[in-house]
Amino acid sequence: MRSFLKTLLQRRGYELASLYPDERNRLPGDLTFSYREALYYIGSSLAGQISLDEAQLLADLVRSSDPSRPIVEVGTLFGHSTMVLAMAKRREQRLFTVDNYFWNPLGVRPQVHRAITRGRLKQAVDEHNVVIKDCSASEFYASYAEPPPALFFCDADHSYEAVHADLTWALQVGATIICGDDYEPKYHPGVVRAVDELGGAERLSGGLYVLKR
Ligand SMILES: C[S@@+](CC[C@H](N)C(=O)[O-])C[C@H]1O[C@@H](n2cnc3c(N)ncnc32)[C@H](O)[C@@H]1O
Repeated sequence: MRSFLKTLLQRRGYELASLYPDERNRLPGDLTFSYREALYYIGSSLAGQISLDEAQLLADLVRSSDPSRPIVEVGTLFGHSTMVLAMAKRREQRLFTVDNYFWNPLGVRPQVHRAITRGRLKQAVDEHNVVIKDCSASEFYASYAEPPPALFFCDADHSYEAVHADLTWALQVGATIICGDDYEPKYHPGVVRAVDELGGAERLSGGLYVLKR
């Protein structure tokens, strides 16, 4: 009876499902949402992505970079910052974006995370010289055989050890502009410690930093 009811509802476009309490808390209290609407709302108002102010600084940095050399981003997530980089760069400039689909704020499985990201970045990949690298940052670094990046954007694992390793790689490989997200002592002390040890932040917009050279 229960499965018959479920099938009947699904055929008519309904779903028998409920939100987790933390999902419910993310919705505005003055509006009633269906389950589907709630998921769309949560999916399009995600945490973990760069803000508009940060995006403006990032875009300025890209426009000042040498278009004959690649951009490298570690930490694609769902492609929000990748789209900022892709929109600001010259079409011919290559952009490598690296993610191992280890974490996402929706809690979806890695294979779903990967599919959403690939779907969102399809046009960027097909027409704008964006290359998705489906691997860990360290695997990417070990296989990198391209010219020194014109810009390196660090936004993957936010632990001190990982950020230190990411920035050290960028320095060693000769990246010209090195920047990253979440220079925020309260929330990401590891990012702040690694950045400060390797030169400090020369410019800041929100949590977006440019490493001093
Ligand atoms: C904060 S999110 C990136 C946000 C994205 N740059 C934006 O602004 O839209 C961090 C991403 O880094 C990825 N990540 C974490 N550790 C990683 C690692 N060691 N190598 C590659 N990607 C990693 C996670 O899977 C996640 O998608």
